[in-house]
Amino acid sequence: PAAKLWGGRFSEPTDAFVEAFTASIGFDQRLYDEDITGSIAHARMLARVGVITEDEAKKIVRGLEDIRGDIERGDLFWSVELEDVHMNIEARLIDRIGDVGKKLHTGRSRNDQVATDIRLFMRRAVDAIIEEANRLRRGLTDLAEAEADTVMPGFTHLQVAQPVSFGHHLLAWHDMLERDVERLIDTRKRINIMPLGSAALAGTSYPLDRDWVANELGFDGISENSLDAVSDRDFQIEFLSAASILMMHLSRMSEELVLWTSAQFNFIELPDRFCTGSSIMPQKKNPDVPELVRGKTGRVYGSLFSLLTLMKSQPLAYNKDNQEDKEPIFDTVDTLMGSLRAFADMIPAIQPNRERMREAARQGFSTATDLADYLVRQGVAFRDAHEIVGKAVRQATDKGCDLADLSLVELQALSGHIGEDVFDVLTVEGSMAARDLPGGTAPKRVRARAVAARAALDAF
Ligand code: ARG
Repeated sequence: PAAKLWGGRFSEPTDAFVEAFTASIGFDQRLYDEDITGSIAHARMLARVGVITEDEAKKIVRGLEDIRGDIERGDLFWSVELEDVHMNIEARLIDRIGDVGKKLHTGRSRNDQVATDIRLFMRRAVDAIIEEANRLRRGLTDLAEAEADTVMPGFTHLQVAQPVSFGHHLLAWHDMLERDVERLIDTRKRINIMPLGSAALAGTSYPLDRDWVANELGFDGISENSLDAVSDRDFQIEFLSAASILMMHLSRMSEELVLWTSAQFNFIELPDRFCTGSSIMPQKKNPDVPELVRGKTGRVYGSLFSLLTLMKSQPLAYNKDNQEDKEPIFDTVDTLMGSLRAFADMIPAIQPNRERMREAARQGFSTATDLADYLVRQGVAFRDAHEIVGKAVRQATDKGCDLADLSLVELQALSGHIGEDVFDVLTVEGSMAARDLPGGTAPKRVRARAVAARAALDAF
């Protein structure tokens, strides 16, 4: 068995089950690259401030680079006896370069080391997630611009409400994601602070140049309190909150996509490559990607609650509880990357059934508000107009027709203020074009918003 790096004060070996139970190597090996990068900066700094010699630092750095190569080639056997990624790499370093390797851990603890590693990991992950979210946003803006004139029913209470542009609906999704990206950018500021130099909890008596290391590792600054630095996991909870909101948005989009692909709605087609069939029902084409994304939202919420609960009763400073932070973070990063990628690939391939959407918008009296607004323009008070249109809707319902199918005579029987020109406002296109104010669904507003959103992405 590999000798423990902390074995000095122990009189019997660790129980085999306890060893496996407490080990994190099964999952934290994923931090090897960040761990090595952090160690290299630490070793160089130790030489700069004269704690080790330049020659020792060189040997350590070369050894660590070689180990990175070993790991990438699959040549490093991860040992459970060595507990975690930090001690596996350190033990390997000592194997490779001898006693000088034992100097690397000077002025450092695994407590500030692991907090540094996970921050480096999350910084990279957040950048990749933002990039993928922006790719999806771009797809939405492009499709929205192309579909600005496409009419669909807008819903409230899932009942047909008013006609809207399909492009407007897509840009609503875009704007949700825009806020998600803003939240991630904000969270990144608090991720990108370096805890290294806090050592186990109190700082260290060596004259470490923390600012130099922070700069070397691309951190925006250093933590100001060693106790807080080794025990803080707020940045993870913030990330998981932003991730949960993002997944909530993807889940809402998924729900609509699932509805729209159903025979009952039939608003859109998803290309076959994003769907699967049924093993028993030959006719089926199921919208698996949106369904799965909707389902995966649950595990991200679960991770947020894991971390909130993990932290709620921890006394300062580091506690072994914190080892439980990694799997929820890794799982969330993977879930977000996968879900965003699937959506970014799928959205540009949506085929709208324009005629069917227009037909659905025509049904359900979606221009009733336009008729009321028409009456208001003829001098009728809005409440009276509301009443008159309500009667018109009842008549059309009784006849089993749409508002635009009522004759002028029938409409005039309800109000003397109605003229021939009423039929202009009863069309879905007229209704949509009339909502011509900032934030409205008029196609020219939708096109302008799509162009502005794309310009913001270009400038990102
Ligand atoms: N594997 C540990 C973790 O993930 C590293 C830090 C361990 N520190 C300690 N004092 N036991 O948090």
